Amino acid sequence: MVERRDDHQSVIMGQTDLRRAYQDGQVAREYVGRRFESPLGSLLHRRQVDVVASVIAKQGVRRAVEIAPGPARVSVDVLSGLESAVLIDASAQMLSEAARRLRERGVRTPVHLVQADAFQLPLVDRHDLVYSFRLIRHFERSDRLRLYAQIRSLLKPGGWLVFDAVNTVVSAPLRAKAAPGEYAHYDALLTPGEIRDELREAGFDTVGLEGVQYRFGLLQQIQYLVAPRSDGLARGLMAIVDKTGGPPLEWVVTCRRA
Ligand SMILES: C[S@@+](CC[C@H](N)C(=O)[O-])C[C@H]1O[C@@H](n2cnc3c(N)ncnc32)[C@H](O)[C@@H]1O
Repeated sequence: MVERRDDHQSVIMGQTDLRRAYQDGQVAREYVGRRFESPLGSLLHRRQVDVVASVIAKQGVRRAVEIAPGPARVSVDVLSGLESAVLIDASAQMLSEAARRLRERGVRTPVHLVQADAFQLPLVDRHDLVYSFRLIRHFERSDRLRLYAQIRSLLKPGGWLVFDAVNTVVSAPLRAKAAPGEYAHYDALLTPGEIRDELREAGFDTVGLEGVQYRFGLLQQIQYLVAPRSDGLARGLMAIVDKTGGPPLEWVVTCRRA
């Protein structure tokens, strides 16, 4: 097991911990509701979905792979335009929840669910797009490069990769003040230059960084103070704040296999 402790993060994690954390039926069933249905969570979910859907629509994507889909949070909202898709996750519980949610949402695209380790991907055929959220960021650079190499092997030349990255400028000060255990897993905190550099080294050209959750401190206050009284008002206020720009908490990164 790889262990890591950062100055600004009171967490220890490793590949094994991250896999184990999601091998639990209750965690799988409650995952989307707990994290992505609040106004703040929905803002992030919607931005990620919009970026993936836009790549699918504009780049003529027919076959895609999602790595570490969990309960198919993103996939249920983007798969309908595709010819086929493969969802690969280490957790049987998450894949079973993904299957249930895909059925419930009436997704008709043929979807192949595969239980496997992202560091040892089993597929050999090439796809137009790979997307993966809340996986790559949880590893240090050398492991991220191993993941990019695995992902690259699934893509056609010129194929697309979409994933999330955390902005060090916004996140590092928040984490420095966080209570012990507040951040359950390690996150790589990066600058745009670092993201571009590591992608170049991994054989990808960065195409865009789409900001998510601008003015995070204000968004959090709206979540805590307004959302309990009015969900609709909180969503409206967040939509306005989101348009004001500034440094975002995270990015959705779009890049292409060089
Ligand atoms: C935080 S959840 C993210 C789920 C989804 N992508 C999202 O953004 O909502 C992390 C997921 O990664 C999966 N996972 C963790 N380590 C993995 C590995 N080495 N290979 C494949 N999946 C892994 C877990 O089972 C879990 O479903």
